[in-house]
Amino acid sequence: MPSSYNSAHHRFTVLVAVLAFVLLIAGGLVTSNNAGLSVPDWPTSFGSLYRMPHMVGGVKFEHGHRMLAELVGLLTIIVAIWTWKVDQRRWMRGLTLGAVAGVIFQGVLGGLTVLNYLPPAISTAHATVGQTMFVLLAAIAAFTSRSWLEAPAQRITRKDASPLIRHCWMLIGFLYLQLILGAAFRHVWTKLGPMGSNEWPTHKIIHAFLYPHIFNAFLVAGLIFYVSLRVLMKHPNINHLKWPSAWLLLLLVLQIMLGVGAYVVRVVLGAEELQPTRALVGITVMHLATGALILAVAVILTIQAYRHRGDSAEVLPFDRKREAATA
Ligand code: HEM
Ligand code: HEM
Repeated sequence: MPSSYNSAHHRFTVLVAVLAFVLLIAGGLVTSNNAGLSVPDWPTSFGSLYRMPHMVGGVKFEHGHRMLAELVGLLTIIVAIWTWKVDQRRWMRGLTLGAVAGVIFQGVLGGLTVLNYLPPAISTAHATVGQTMFVLLAAIAAFTSRSWLEAPAQRITRKDASPLIRHCWMLIGFLYLQLILGAAFRHVWTKLGPMGSNEWPTHKIIHAFLYPHIFNAFLVAGLIFYVSLRVLMKHPNINHLKWPSAWLLLLLVLQIMLGVGAYVVRVVLGAEELQPTRALVGITVMHLATGALILAVAVILTIQAYRHRGDSAEVLPFDRKREAATA
């Protein structure tokens, strides 16, 4: 059965997605400030579940991040309950339950990384799942929007849609690789490299993670150019495809500039620094946040491409149901 547009529900999902984005920035601030162990225990903070610690030094980043995470966790549960009440789409209900499970898993990863003194593998997993949570909440917000529920799906032929969808999936895959390599570089560098225990020589960290990250940036850029230009040239009349494509191009240019900046502040200027500078914190967190936006926009473009694909026998199961109901 199709669901009708519910403005309050949709606005709430948008709010939670925006807060999840702010939470990514808060998490990035913890890592960039080397503040991950400022609060040494978990799930308590300095032995208490509710007492507010003195928000000084790294504690303000680490405890602030935890408080925001708890808020987003709580709001995600409310999104699920509300969705079960007002949304008839079974897959949509499942998606919100997945978001609740994901947010709990992410919290446990955060706790585990603290309890194990920030091993790069767990911190990298925490960075990756964190962005996935944001993307999932952004997709839920898109699925509850008026345009998703009511606007006619301006169809494109299967012949045009298939290569677009294939390349969108490739883009998402390479973006994940990019995220994992970037996060691994960042966490190995700060914990086992020059800012940490010096167990890994800097050139080894750069060869293992940073050069592959820079190489992969070319593949990501190539795919964004292909996908976006294809949409802008072939489907300029379909706003749901046109705007994400234009944003991808814009964000890519910004991200490459921030990436070069991150390289300069982290590797060229920062290799000898023991304390992170303001420039390092600002640029690396902006690079992380822009990366998250690129991933989210790529996913939105992909689901919109499915929505606009012709040939009803092949469209997503939830679209098919809606079509059957409105026929
Ligand atoms: C929904 C919940 C959460 C989200 C979306 C989230 C997201 C993030 C992100 C994006 C980062 C930055 C990773 C990076 O810079 O590579 C981060 C760092 C961190 N988060 Fe969370 N987080 C969540 C919950 C928690 C919780 C509950 C804790 C509890 C202790 C926690 C502890 C940390 C720590 C310690 C770091 C720094 C890791 C390091 O420097 O190695 N997070 N988080
Ligand atoms: C398509 C373009 C790119 C994307 C999507 C991207 C994405 C990311 C992400 C998401 C992170 C942080 C991962 C995390 O901890 O959560 C990161 C880290 C990093 N990236 Fe990129 N990146 C791109 C291009 C580049 C380029 C071209 C360079 C350098 C020339 C670069 C240099 C770096 C550096 C140095 C870090 C680590 C920052 C730190 O140590 O704090 N990136 N990248």
